[in-house]
Amino acid sequence: MTMARAPDEKWPPKHDNILWYVKDPSHYTYNIDAIERIPYMAPNLVGAEKAARGKLPTDTWWHTIVPTNSHEKTGYPTQKPLGILRRIILASSNPGEVVMDFFAGSGTTGMAAWELGRQFILIDDNPQALEVMARRFAGISQIEWIGYDPSRLSAGSREGGSHAAA
Ligand SMILES: C[S@@+](CC[C@H](N)C(=O)[O-])C[C@H]1O[C@@H](n2cnc3c(N)ncnc32)[C@H](O)[C@@H]1O
Repeated sequence: MTMARAPDEKWPPKHDNILWYVKDPSHYTYNIDAIERIPYMAPNLVGAEKAARGKLPTDTWWHTIVPTNSHEKTGYPTQKPLGILRRIILASSNPGEVVMDFFAGSGTTGMAAWELGRQFILIDDNPQALEVMARRFAGISQIEWIGYDPSRLSAGSREGGSHAAA
């Protein structure tokens, strides 16, 4: 465990590590051309055509947290930005495949998977997470809920469930 330090004592930690595992290192999905390109930091150094096309991200990604007033904000405390999950899903899966998140929280993985034409299975043992996901996916009728009834959302009493799949 590390102690949080004041910014005048140490560089404030501002990054997350994303661990990337593959089952078979010689055969895995990596659709690098499917992901969005990003602006060059010094576009004047690369020529107009390259600058207009942008560059592929490296293994260091810059991304804002979910802005407080954005439409994306669900209120779930550990919600991750859709932009990060879109990039991961585009690069590491193909349309129609199933994406699974065992620690789904607000369901960002499922939302990104849905937008990108993937199926998804989301799991969480926190009743608040299921509630947030029920609200977030309210317009999507193809979802099968197991162990949770999203129609009880407005009833006041809620039980924790286990997963949602589409
Ligand atoms: C960091 S949050 C995930 C946030 C998510 N990526 C999002 O964008 O909202 C981790 C989630 O894992 C759930 N969790 C932790 N342990 C779990 C377990 N043993 N079984 C199921 N869910 C679990 C927590 O309830 C929490 O919602």
